[in-house]
Amino acid sequence: MATVETADTAVAEESGVRRRDFINIAAVSFAGAGAVATVFPLVNQMNPSADVLALASIEVDISAIEAGQAIKTSWRKQPIFIRNLTAEEITEANAVDVAELRDPETLAERTTAGKENWLITLGVCTHLGCVPLGAAQGEIKGEFGGYFCPCHGSHYDTAARIRKGPAPANLEVPEHEFLSDTVVKIG
Ligand code: FES
Repeated sequence: MATVETADTAVAEESGVRRRDFINIAAVSFAGAGAVATVFPLVNQMNPSADVLALASIEVDISAIEAGQAIKTSWRKQPIFIRNLTAEEITEANAVDVAELRDPETLAERTTAGKENWLITLGVCTHLGCVPLGAAQGEIKGEFGGYFCPCHGSHYDTAARIRKGPAPANLEVPEHEFLSDTVVKIG
């Protein structure tokens, strides 16, 4: 009888262990799925399409970039900043006397008509090629609220125009075209 009880207990314990294992495995699986779901949109934005493999152009889904946010992606092996300017940042950029700029350009000349809030530039400082700060959340944006290059202290404004420091020119705007309200093709 004692043997039977022990066997039953062993079976029960084994079954309990299996249940616990399953619960643990299930929890890990759900955690894994959650992590994948969280990371996927970020990875997806940087995922090279067939076009980028040919180094020709990329298509980027910008639907998740809210006003005041920016993302970094890459095109032709160079960093690209895509920034959704706030109304205040647009006003600030338009309030600048262009004639006083080192590299005179209006925000309108650097963006697409009707989509002046979308500022798309190379993330490459025009001084010696460092990647400026300001596109990622929490990064400093410099004295003019755009981008700041920490290598030698170049400050870019909200239209990514050079305002202070050694860089000779504005951050370059690559050729781009909006395929829809939420997809932009660069290159
Ligand atoms: S490389 Fe940016 S300031 Fe020198």
